[in-house]
Amino acid sequence: MILALETSCDDTCAAVVDGPRVLSNVISSQAAAHERYGGVVPEVASRHHLELVNPVVDAALAEAGIGLEDVDAVAVTVRPGLIGALLVGVSTAKALAAATGKPLIAVDHLLGHVAASWLEPEPLEPPFLALVASGGHTLLAAVRDHEGHEVIGQTLDDAAGEALDKAARLLGLGYPGGPAIERTAREGDPGAFTFPVAMSRDPGLDFSFSGLKTALVYAVRDLGEEEVERRRADLAASFQAAVVDQLVAKVRRALRDGDWTAVALGGGVAANGPLRDALGRLCEAEGARLKLLPRELCTDNAAMIGSAARFAPAAEYPDYLAWDAAPR
Ligand code: KG4
Ligand code: ZN
Repeated sequence: MILALETSCDDTCAAVVDGPRVLSNVISSQAAAHERYGGVVPEVASRHHLELVNPVVDAALAEAGIGLEDVDAVAVTVRPGLIGALLVGVSTAKALAAATGKPLIAVDHLLGHVAASWLEPEPLEPPFLALVASGGHTLLAAVRDHEGHEVIGQTLDDAAGEALDKAARLLGLGYPGGPAIERTAREGDPGAFTFPVAMSRDPGLDFSFSGLKTALVYAVRDLGEEEVERRRADLAASFQAAVVDQLVAKVRRALRDGDWTAVALGGGVAANGPLRDALGRLCEAEGARLKLLPRELCTDNAAMIGSAARFAPAAEYPDYLAWDAAPR
């Protein structure tokens, strides 16, 4: 039974997992606090984590119907993320472990997104190919066992979610951008504008989204305010299609390069309907199983940190007191 904490970005999260079972998964989103700035403000995030972390831990224990004494170990995200935000989780986890004499387990946030697939319902066991696409990272990973993953492709510049967030801001759609783009795109024609699907001729598995963003900047400038207003849904749909096309193209290439029989989709962008549909069609054509997670396990959460912690080494007091959080 593991109590896990995750505070790497703008969600304050605590969860209790018992093996692959999620007993509680509490997520306190700060999105409303950051909305007026159009993005996450690190100082604001740290301050909110400080206020929220104890109530969120209490809620996770209460929802699981257990007390701190029932927990076998505490786990926490130590990297990568906003340093001030990570520190709140790491310090809290150290204090909880030290006060109760429980071991502490350090978890990498990205392995957490991969490990979300090991949770119920219908856990997916390695080996599998994982696509993690979020606001901070976009990568393809070869997951051969529970201990780690090998990154076989990653973004050379912006993350997929970051591109969607920036596009939403350009189109006046607010923050977080991914859901706003998806909503707006439903009324639009994905073929209305042709945005470059970057890296499509590149033989590797890396991603690039900054050229796509620049293309949107020019399109918005050339159209002018009134036309952008009138064609906002078409712009959103076309931009979203270009992001999805690139993600799908790289998964297709990885599937053909390797002999994967399963694909797991994680990260906040995995909540995107058109991406889920397109990957579903691809996997069906390629004869691979697609593992889709419930949305609350796609976006940042602590259950995935607890899932990764099951297979990670635990440290005893006072060894973990020297641990640092790391932004990268
Ligand atoms: O994994 P996550 O919650 O936090 C990070 O580690 O970054 O991912 C957040 C990202 C944001 O960029 C957000 O715009 C994107 O995931 N996102 C979406 C959707 N929901 C969240 N992108 C596309 N479609 C969605 N429905
Ligand atoms: Zn994340």
